Amino acid sequence: MKGIILAGGLGTRLHPLTKSVSKQLLPLFDKPMIYYPLSTLIELGIRDILLICKRNDKNLFQNLLKDGSQWGLRIEYAIQDKPSGIAESFIIGEKFIKDDNVALILGDNIFYGVKYNIKNFKNGALIFSYQVQDPKRYGVIEIKNNLPKKITEKPKNPKSNLAVTGLYIYDKEVVKIAKTIKPSKRGELEITDINNNYLKRKKLKVCNLEQGSMWLDAGTFTTLLQAAHFIQTLQERQNIQIGSPESSALYQKFISRSQLKKIIKNSPKNEYFKNLNSLI
Ligand code: TTP
Repeated sequence: MKGIILAGGLGTRLHPLTKSVSKQLLPLFDKPMIYYPLSTLIELGIRDILLICKRNDKNLFQNLLKDGSQWGLRIEYAIQDKPSGIAESFIIGEKFIKDDNVALILGDNIFYGVKYNIKNFKNGALIFSYQVQDPKRYGVIEIKNNLPKKITEKPKNPKSNLAVTGLYIYDKEVVKIAKTIKPSKRGELEITDINNNYLKRKKLKVCNLEQGSMWLDAGTFTTLLQAAHFIQTLQERQNIQIGSPESSALYQKFISRSQLKKIIKNSPKNEYFKNLNSLI
């Protein structure tokens, strides 16, 4: 399975923070935000990753993540010139996806405790839902007889509290589907239209993220701070690393302990690397 991280967008809800810096490069406690979705993909067992970003940000992301080989990954980069919608990822990523299944994660989405074995994914689409207080901001899933009935993007009167999170898994058909959908009233190729296409063909599965897992989109001032506090609290309390590519890559055996030792040896002796050191 391939993985795509979508890290473009204007980040207007975070202006002036994001006027000259990409949202996904902002700090989230002790790491750049992009580390978190990257680690989520690693934890799913994905090594081939395409990062889609704005033209001006490509060098910055590349300086940070390189080609991924230091973490046992292969990272490629592609440009989205305008924020024309989440579903455009599959058009931009067509050559990268080829004939594979693909997981897409949004660059400002922070997950903790997602347990899914991608080997169980055969075909169709799989999305992850999360119970929220303010569903109006998200794609909302209407459920009937335990099955998804319809997904509505940012509804005025949500039919449930189940929001669609920014982690999606599709079979290779997604590229064709992305090419057939038309921009919505707000001018975007909507991921909700892709999901509804699978849903109508009874090919969409919804996995509810269980209690004990966490999902935040760090796209507002409040959620950015909440996410940082959450990470700090959990890391310090449980002596774990959340959203650390090194830690996730070690766990997945993408890198060995001696490779991690080498990374730590060549890095500053700060809290981040001291914490990593405690893993080995
Ligand atoms: P949004 O939060 O919808 O958009 P944004 O990040 O530009 O923020 P704002 O609403 O404050 O202007 O996007 C969610 C994620 O998806 C975020 O990581 C940016 C990314 N994205 C793209 O990279 N390209 C796109 O065309 C869209 C719609 C989103």
